[in-house]
Amino acid sequence: MTKRIGVIAVLLVAVLALGLAGCAQQPSASTAKVLKVGAETTFPPFEFQDEKTKEYTGFDIDLMKAIAKQMGYEMQIQSMGFDALIPALEAGQIDVIASAMTITEERAKKVTFSKPYYKSGLSIVVKSDNNTIKTFKDLEGKRIAVQIGTTGADEAKKIKDAKVREYNSTSEAFLELKAGGVDAVVNDLPVNQYYLAQGGAKDAKAVGEILNAEEYGIAIAKKNKDLADKVNNALEEIKKNGEYDKIHEKWFGKKMQ
Ligand code: ARG
Repeated sequence: MTKRIGVIAVLLVAVLALGLAGCAQQPSASTAKVLKVGAETTFPPFEFQDEKTKEYTGFDIDLMKAIAKQMGYEMQIQSMGFDALIPALEAGQIDVIASAMTITEERAKKVTFSKPYYKSGLSIVVKSDNNTIKTFKDLEGKRIAVQIGTTGADEAKKIKDAKVREYNSTSEAFLELKAGGVDAVVNDLPVNQYYLAQGGAKDAKAVGEILNAEEYGIAIAKKNKDLADKVNNALEEIKKNGEYDKIHEKWFGKKMQ
């Protein structure tokens, strides 16, 4: 008799446990909405692959994680060439672009930009022993390496007689400078600073004034008005609740106010 009750009790517990497990799993599986984030991931400290863990990391990655979480989404990174990002967004392969993308008039014809989330600008990197290039004007007639599709590329192409070489990644542009194949790299200032701080300063240096204040925005497809509102609201929220400042401090140190 007691044995029977024991067996029934065990069975009951098992059935209950199974039932509960079922309940616990289903809602989370169906509510986990995924936000597909496109980025060109060789752009430290904004988006790059951690050498050890192979995971994507950087300011934009942390920022998007926080924004997605605020929106009730899980984030998934899709890495691709910088010039492939807007076409992928237009084709609906990704939901947003978070790739240190400067808000420009030209791009704003094709995509909706969020409110600006980071102030930036362009700068020049040359070899340490180069004493002839000191300003953007000195780049006339020179060989310049840039990343394809970037504002750095646009700016370099405006320079008189410059021979502009476009690379898929900024790391390739820096390698070309090291190898002596070009005289300068024109690229986003914080990325140049990070490159120099991470060892690049052994044989390269930054010169010249910062060119054109630029602002980064998150890009959303024109037809996706709802999503653009959600992203802006989430961005505002993480600015209010201190999350943005935390991420900024992690990658750039304390904000100067
Ligand atoms: N800010 C520049 C632009 O929008 C360069 C961005 C490059 N970003 C990247 N993840 N590679 O053109």
